[in-house]
Amino acid sequence: DWNMPDYVAEAVARIREQVGSDEVILGLSGGVDSSVAAALIHKAIGDQLTCVFVDHGLLRLNEAEQVMNTMSRHLGIRVIHVDAGEQFLSKLAGVADPEAKRKIIGREFVEVFQTESAKLKSARWLAQGTIYPDVIESAASKTGKAVAIKSHHNVGGLPETLNLKLLEPLRELFKDEVRHLGLALGLPPEMVFRHPFPGPGLGVRILGEVKPVYADLLRRADDIFITELRNTIEPESGKSWYELTSQAFTVFLPVKSVGVMGDGRTYDYVVALRAVQTTDFMTADWAELPYSLLKRVSSRIINEVRGINRVTYDVSSKPPATIEWE
Ligand code: XMP
Repeated sequence: DWNMPDYVAEAVARIREQVGSDEVILGLSGGVDSSVAAALIHKAIGDQLTCVFVDHGLLRLNEAEQVMNTMSRHLGIRVIHVDAGEQFLSKLAGVADPEAKRKIIGREFVEVFQTESAKLKSARWLAQGTIYPDVIESAASKTGKAVAIKSHHNVGGLPETLNLKLLEPLRELFKDEVRHLGLALGLPPEMVFRHPFPGPGLGVRILGEVKPVYADLLRRADDIFITELRNTIEPESGKSWYELTSQAFTVFLPVKSVGVMGDGRTYDYVVALRAVQTTDFMTADWAELPYSLLKRVSSRIINEVRGINRVTYDVSSKPPATIEWE
């Protein structure tokens, strides 16, 4: 059995012993693992920890503000917010291939992180939110997307070039243990129980070339979908549809379809809603969301997001489809 206060006290003592009076850098993504790692290390060593939050401009609506609010203002952690959106978007201009986009985002991410970290000259440690399943996965050494996930998320190669030692306080924990630890450390439940979000962010949810206007439309449509999922309770379980799904998001399709508005004709973009249920993300079923919920989301998106006139729902399971569209 797992006693949380004892666990926190032990973990804190271990970190203090490990790093002593050294300074530590941590790459904050806004995801659960890096946020919990940051909160834990901060509890242990306070301002000896500096987090670097690389904002690649492909985050969801208000996401950067939320990360800064929670981590910096609420928990009092030192966070350097690097607003690199323009840099990423200019590197992505004209690139349509999904793996090429992943590579560019991954490479740029490492470069920006490295530049920022190099400024923190006194740092001796690089902290990462590596959890137990990551350790197993790396050992199993996968190919394809899994490699992309690793190379992006674990900021590969940084320790060698920056000459930093690795601090990975969550290495022994499973995801649900990380979530409990996060709650115990004062992270809000909305953050701790968030659906996973891919490292390349909206970069792989805008099919083909990523353009700033597409990203803006997608952010607004996706925010409506997620808000409605959070606010719609399934009566039998008493849970929201956000809780009842494992991952849900909106995909931007760069095609135009015809619609009508008043007396006029529209010729606007299309989005697809995606919601799946899965335990391991290796296979997944599309979620049987209530029609009333889909109806509300669709009419809100079409009425509120000028530039989108058609909403579709993805009824493909994995395999043979993947969860993401790219
Ligand atoms: P797929 O689309 O392969 O997704 O069924 C399985 C899970 O992996 C996530 N995913 C990624 N995560 N970088 C990431 O950090 C990536 O490039 C990437 N591609 C897919 C996806 O969101 C889902 O949770």
